[in-house]
Amino acid sequence: MAILVTGGTGYIGSHTVVELLNHGYEVVIVDNFSNSKPEVLNRIFLMTNRRPKFYQIDVCDYDGMTEVFEKETIKAIIHFAGLKSVAESVEKPELYFKNNVGSSEVLLQLMEKYHVPNLVFSSSATVYGVPKHVPLKESDKVGGCTNPYGQTKLDIEYLLKDYAKEHKEVNIAILRYFNPIGAHQSGLIGEDPHGIPNNLMPYITQVAIGKRPHLNVYGNDYKTVDGTGVRDYIHVVDLAHGHLRALKKLEEKPGLVIYNLGTGKGTSVLELVQAFEKANNVKIPYIICDRRPGDIDENYAEVSKAFLEMGFKTKLDIEDACRDSWRWQRKNPHGYD
Ligand code: NAD
Ligand code: UFG
Repeated sequence: MAILVTGGTGYIGSHTVVELLNHGYEVVIVDNFSNSKPEVLNRIFLMTNRRPKFYQIDVCDYDGMTEVFEKETIKAIIHFAGLKSVAESVEKPELYFKNNVGSSEVLLQLMEKYHVPNLVFSSSATVYGVPKHVPLKESDKVGGCTNPYGQTKLDIEYLLKDYAKEHKEVNIAILRYFNPIGAHQSGLIGEDPHGIPNNLMPYITQVAIGKRPHLNVYGNDYKTVDGTGVRDYIHVVDLAHGHLRALKKLEEKPGLVIYNLGTGKGTSVLELVQAFEKANNVKIPYIICDRRPGDIDENYAEVSKAFLEMGFKTKLDIEDACRDSWRWQRKNPHGYD
């Protein structure tokens, strides 16, 4: 009986696969490498001495996915596969809808056909739209997404809620990630963005290694501690553990559950820059620029529900994440290439 991990060679997927293998789970990965590299599979082997089964298939391909379900005995699915660039989603909203919502629909059809009881889904804090207050609770209003990517996450959440209503035998954990950063301590896997990074931490590490001259800080006139945007940065290894907790929770047959995965603590852009400089003893030159359209002042998670209901608590902090991101970048200056 295996765990099917879609998007398992991606950033969060690869870290979760390593934890699953290290905890004795059997893993089957499906990924189309649209945003990852085959080399990830070698790294996973180096780290765990185990080779998960791998299928290079698009999750939207119903026939291809049917073959996987025919060959493997799947007891649960973790659905990471998805496109995630906010900027690209504004240019290509239809592609995002087809890929993200379409892949989820295929999985639900196959879950029904092959009687797979449990699903964990990668949602995002972006479903809360522009927060009226922080910290954000799972019961807070969702909607008002500021981009098509966020809208796909919300659409999938609704799809899953409808499915769970009709299928009482099914258990679903919707995990709303805040801002994942960091890398595995080994420096063997990490985040490998194509081109100019959109997200803060990979941009900082590329400045640190000399690929980019300085960081552009998008605005210092937000209503926050120092005027720069505040987010809840969660170490990717903690996030990976959150998925193991969610799988355990689903064994209690709770129906559909929703959890924030964050630290509960907000950190500003400049605080993250300072933490990176201190942890790694490198200088990060920066300039203050205009705000990035669609950005919000601050968001961070209310984390008590995930702790009380599935015992999830982060163990790593910003310094750990800064050290681990830098180790990954130094050991792999060109990512997996
Ligand atoms: P990632 O791009 O590194 O990983 C996603 C993986 O899915 C990639 O390996 C890609 O090749 C694969 N993929 C995409 N579409 C596919 C398809 N149709 N069929 C098969 N494989 C496909 O992204 P990540 O950061 O690891 O994110 C994983 C999930 O978590 C995504 O669903 C993302 O939206 C969600 N999420 C990420 C963040 C973040 O900041 N990284 C925050 C909130 C939610
Ligand atoms: N920032 C900069 N310079 C950069 C990049 C980012 O100043 O080069 C700032 C942003 O303005 C923001 C903060 O750093 O204040 C974090 O930005 P990220 O792009 O790293 O993260 P976001 O919070 O904008 O978005 C991320 C993911 C989304 C996801 C969301 C969930 O990219 O996909 O977290 O909270 F939906």
